[in-house]
Amino acid sequence: MVIRIAAVGDVHLDEDVVGRFRPALDELPEHADVLLLAGDLTRHGTESEARCVATEFGGLGVPVVTVLGNHDHQCDQVPQVVKVLEDAGITVLEGNGVVLDCAGGRLGVAGVKGFGGGFAGRCASDFGEPEMKAFVRTTTQSADALSAALRGLECDVLVALTHYAPVPDTLAGEPLEIYPFLGSYQLGQAIDSAPTALALHGHAHAGSERGTTPGGVRVRNVAHPVIKQAYSVFHLGDNLDHAQVSGVGGSGIQQSWS
Ligand SMILES: [Fe+2]
Ligand SMILES: [Fe+2]
Repeated sequence: MVIRIAAVGDVHLDEDVVGRFRPALDELPEHADVLLLAGDLTRHGTESEARCVATEFGGLGVPVVTVLGNHDHQCDQVPQVVKVLEDAGITVLEGNGVVLDCAGGRLGVAGVKGFGGGFAGRCASDFGEPEMKAFVRTTTQSADALSAALRGLECDVLVALTHYAPVPDTLAGEPLEIYPFLGSYQLGQAIDSAPTALALHGHAHAGSERGTTPGGVRVRNVAHPVIKQAYSVFHLGDNLDHAQVSGVGGSGIQQSWS
């Protein structure tokens, strides 16, 4: 049995973008059981931009699950943005999860926005000024919430959804100097603390698509500028030991793992 997951991040919607994704989204139920959005749905996190997201991604015929990104926080209107999205039937995760009954089994999705901090040997540490401790504490709390959410889901296939990156692999192409602002190793540790099958993130527009956590979990950067498609589709089957990747035409990139 296979669960088909469509995913995209960093669509950065405003009025000028509305309609651009919709033709591909209308075909989505033929290709996938669920759509996961990896944050940065808007440009500045305004309520009016959120309404554009609701117009574009609402009423798709498959469940839509999202985390927010840093851009969605810019105007300090997170409660209003979340309400607009939820009113459109979009599930917004932050430190929690959801289990969806798909034809191929129960899909568990745990999500957090995440935060920066950097990666092994090149990371911020919980030391010194209160501001630096607060920075690192924000990441730690987010990673802890992701770990708890992942471990709390009872499902057949488990997916982690973040905006910030859990590994440096998928940042390749970004300037090294900004890696600490693009993700944190702590998110990777959280993903490895549970039997996660796949980790999806966005945020790194100039990054690359594929990576792996230290524990061997496949990571995919689905930022729209990276995948250059309306969405990618991932097929998760019973046997996840052998990855077989095949491309298909149409609106998304299909990656079959069986
Ligand atoms: Fe973005
Ligand atoms: Fe971002």
